[in-house]
Amino acid sequence: MEKIFLGTNWKMHKTVQETREYLNTLLSLNIGLDNSKVQLFVIPPYTSLWDARDCLTDTKILLGAQNMHWEDQGAFTGEISPLMLEEIGIDIVELGHSERRQYYNETDQEINKKVHTALKYRFTPLVCIGEKDRHKQFSGSEEIVREQLKTILAQVDIKDISNIWIAYEPVWAIGEQGKPAEPSYVAEIHQVIREVLVELYHQKAAKGVNIFYGGSVNLANAYQLIKQDNVDGLFIGRSAWSADSFTAIINHLLKKCFY
Ligand code: PGA
Repeated sequence: MEKIFLGTNWKMHKTVQETREYLNTLLSLNIGLDNSKVQLFVIPPYTSLWDARDCLTDTKILLGAQNMHWEDQGAFTGEISPLMLEEIGIDIVELGHSERRQYYNETDQEINKKVHTALKYRFTPLVCIGEKDRHKQFSGSEEIVREQLKTILAQVDIKDISNIWIAYEPVWAIGEQGKPAEPSYVAEIHQVIREVLVELYHQKAAKGVNIFYGGSVNLANAYQLIKQDNVDGLFIGRSAWSADSFTAIINHLLKKCFY
């Protein structure tokens, strides 16, 4: 394991003031963190992005937005454009989280358009994929993940592929009702993801893509998950919404993985 990636999507949580408190605490708890071993990232709601950018100036923690429209600007009430995010100076844009798909009917075709826009603006697209419970029950997980990836990556050039991060987040594992996937199951699906990347691009390029697992990650299961082959990082919700609990996971993994 060379370097692990640990990040959190806050979903629709935290005011601007809470954002500042969280990030200041996270920074003070992680002074001297070895960035060659761990890359942290946080994905707050839009309203907190300016203040988050301010708190994270001159730090190694990357900042992301939770969504973005594919057009530069236009008559799309309620949407946020890449130009607006560029002005803030975000690093990452999360695309296709299962809640966006479930509640706002986002499709793989739309996510594909957003990926192209993100690459144009030099944001790292963090693309979320994953099957629903009913797919898993009928052994359809691999097929779903393959199909999602192929559509989302359509027309993405080989020179750009290593700039894309993929988060495998099975829908049944996410949130209050979710239960974490078994590490062996995660390894199986991550292997499939890597295979699809090899099919679409060549071996070397495919190997350069970071693949993360997300869905009910916590302090107790984080190491078992991250030590699986083809798991380059963890994408964490609830267990990282306090700076203390996120730091506990960071320290635990650093110790288990590197020391
Ligand atoms: P969770 O959220 O860790 O709270 O299950 C994960 C996610 O939605 O990315």
